[in-house]
Amino acid sequence: MYRSHTCGELRATDNTTEVILSGWVQTIRDKGFVLWIDLRDRYGITQLVFDEERSSKAVLEAAKDVGREYVLQVKGTVIERASKNPNLPTGDIEILVSEFKVLNNALTPPFTIEDVTDGGEDLRMKYRYLDIRRNPVKENLIFRHKVTMEVRKYLSEKEFIEVETPYLIKSTPEGARDFVVPSRMNEGQFYALPQSPQTFKQLLMVGGMDRYFQIVKCFRDEDLRADRQPEFTQIDCEMAFVEQEDILGVFEGLTRHLLQEIKGVQVGDFPRITYDEAMRRYGNDKPDIRFGMEFGELNTVAQHKDFNVFNTAELVVGIAVPDGASYTRKEIDALVDWVRRPQVGAKGMVYVKCNPDGTYKSSVDKFYDQEDLAQWAKITGAKAGDLICVLSGSVNETRAQLSALRMEMATRLQLRKAAVFAPLWVTDFPLLELDEETGRYHAMHHPFTAPKPGQISMLEKDPGAVKANAYDLVLNGNEIGGGSIRIYDRATQEVMFKHLGFSEEEAKAQFGFLMDAFQYGAPPHGGIAFGLDRLVAILGGQETIRDFIAFPKNNSGRDVMIDAPAPIDEDQLKELSLKLSVPS
Ligand code: AMO
Repeated sequence: MYRSHTCGELRATDNTTEVILSGWVQTIRDKGFVLWIDLRDRYGITQLVFDEERSSKAVLEAAKDVGREYVLQVKGTVIERASKNPNLPTGDIEILVSEFKVLNNALTPPFTIEDVTDGGEDLRMKYRYLDIRRNPVKENLIFRHKVTMEVRKYLSEKEFIEVETPYLIKSTPEGARDFVVPSRMNEGQFYALPQSPQTFKQLLMVGGMDRYFQIVKCFRDEDLRADRQPEFTQIDCEMAFVEQEDILGVFEGLTRHLLQEIKGVQVGDFPRITYDEAMRRYGNDKPDIRFGMEFGELNTVAQHKDFNVFNTAELVVGIAVPDGASYTRKEIDALVDWVRRPQVGAKGMVYVKCNPDGTYKSSVDKFYDQEDLAQWAKITGAKAGDLICVLSGSVNETRAQLSALRMEMATRLQLRKAAVFAPLWVTDFPLLELDEETGRYHAMHHPFTAPKPGQISMLEKDPGAVKANAYDLVLNGNEIGGGSIRIYDRATQEVMFKHLGFSEEEAKAQFGFLMDAFQYGAPPHGGIAFGLDRLVAILGGQETIRDFIAFPKNNSGRDVMIDAPAPIDEDQLKELSLKLSVPS
């Protein structure tokens, strides 16, 4: 028996009990005639004491050779501590060690295994197994486990069945590039790893499964950011015989259940906003509504004077920054520089100080009088003491720039509070999105998404105006889920592929299996997928999903611990009938 108890469970009531513990050496304090070791496992830390009188000299001497992170097994008696540690659950007791065994020794770890460590990100990733010994990482993984348990519980109670779908498949278009896998047995042919199980879950609906879910890995070869990994996990769901309202109801329920069970937070009905309204009010399709600073469109009250920058702009739009009127000239100049950074891309920024005495002072006083500025304040909701920041230009660019400024100001003003949860449904997304470069339309969600009833006929004349039965769930400014009601008849799916620029042959080659299935009694269906990594990170009060993944990739898509990706040898290439055109 390696242990009778864990390192987290012994209390004063266990006094005089004989125990066996196993774990890692966290710290050693050697006073010569007496030595203490903090022994750690997943459950906690227990103090061991060795002294020459009570433990025997031999045991004390042997303990002196132990180093940090050695793996020990100790036998001893629980005794009450002389000086108790109220910060430790086991702080009332210690173990007087009578026997111990080094199960394994350890090199000195390259960084300290403490809550606040001296190890940088790269080093921690290279030795991720040591990083996982640290409380913050360990706690995040346990937290993730709790979330997935609650997800499984909730969905199982609602009659959802977890079904696994294959990973070696054909391309599923979700807007990213595929990771591909060469097939040895089918020379020159490749599988694609799923960007999502989209087509399979639809086929499960044709198969009559009615309610499906899966906690599943998805693979997307796209540029990485704090909230993106090349392989990530979805809570993927699909339901038959449903309308949008049914789906929103069930998954609002799931989100509410998680907030309640995991965070103890109760939220009312989730607000809903259409995509168009989200863009107009926040310049963003995943607005953070924990704070205000809503957009005020100023075209009608700013384009009647001689200020040409505004007169020639498609959109003039502003936000009121709370208490910003007190900013110095230098601070405002820094803000102008901030919006002009290439990452934001604004040409400049007009500002209005709403003075506490009710007057206005702006950077465009030459063109606008107090009455004009009072109108701007009214439209942006600015109060005395606020600063109105105004950007102008083409609609899409200006909205994106002002949205970036809104988020930046909220961060600086500490309005993005991690303990506040503000979920929101964004609905009525456009069905198609124009790629400015190629002039071609793409499906905004994916090609299986149904247009709003009655709008299919608009596809011919005004494809950009067609709205979809598609929705996103946004939590604190992050898209944590997205889904849609699906097309379930062959004819509509064919029309859709045509508008996406697929020839009949291409559509058949890529998605013939799905269109065939639609001919065998496909039920109306729809679904949603949550990004589990994102959901867990946000519930955990953070936005970097890496911290909630046991073995994540870095920003270049590399696993620096196992050093992947890596070249493969000539024989393997030959077996796969592959030839590299770049030297490996
Ligand atoms: P979508 O592409 O919107 O929908 O993805 C669903 C959710 O997955 C998360 N997500 C990611 N998380 C981490 N890293 C990534 N690279 C990444 N990409 C996406 C997001 C997103 O909201 N098949 C559809 C769902 C459906 O229609 O039912 C789909 O995959 O949180």
